[in-house]
Amino acid sequence: MTQDHRLETLRAALAALYRAEGRPEATRTAASLLAGVLAAEAQPPCALDALIRRTAATSPLPAARAVLAVQELVPWGTNPVADRTGSVADIIAVATLMSPEGPILSADFRLGLFYQRPDSYYPLHNHDADETYVILAGRADWTAGEDRLPRGPGDVIHHPSRMPHAFRTGPEGLLALWRWSGDINTHSYAILPDPDA
Ligand SMILES: [Fe+2]
Repeated sequence: MTQDHRLETLRAALAALYRAEGRPEATRTAASLLAGVLAAEAQPPCALDALIRRTAATSPLPAARAVLAVQELVPWGTNPVADRTGSVADIIAVATLMSPEGPILSADFRLGLFYQRPDSYYPLHNHDADETYVILAGRADWTAGEDRLPRGPGDVIHHPSRMPHAFRTGPEGLLALWRWSGDINTHSYAILPDPDA
C-alpha cells in the first residue's frame, strides 16, 4: 500500500472542516479521519471528471484544492445508495471515503464527496441517517425541510433524520462533503414525490 502526501493533506483538510462544525459527531469524525489511512490506488475514470475539476478549481477552500490535487485517486462511483437513486444517478457522482466497508473503516459514520452536474436538479429525498453537507465548491439552491436557500463554498447544512432535501445547481455545478451519522443504514434512502421535479 502506497502512502501519498496529497491524500494526507485531503484527510487533514476534511478533518479541519469537521472540527469547525462543532457537533460531537463531527469532532469524532475528525479524529477518525486523522487516524485513518487512504491508500493511493488508481481509480476507474469518472464520467464527470472534467466537470468536477472545473468546479473544484473555482474554490478558495483548502479542502477543494486538496480534492483537485488528488482527483485521480478519489474513488468516484462508490455511492452506498447507488442502487436506489434511479435517474438521479446520471447527474451525480459520489465517492465514499469512510464507512463500515471502508476505505477508512468506521462502524458509526459514512462520509465522502458529492458532485452534481451544472444546471440539474436532485429531487427531494431522505433517509434515516442524520446528515451534514459542507459545500466545497460551486453553488446550489438548497431545500432542507422548509428552508430554501442559496448555498456556496463554506456553507454547512444539517439534515436531521428523515428531513427531505433537494438541490438545484446553476452553471457552476456543486462539489460537497457529506457525512451520515446516527442510523447509517442504506435501505431507508428514498426519492420522494416532488412537485418541483
Ligand atoms: Fe441526504
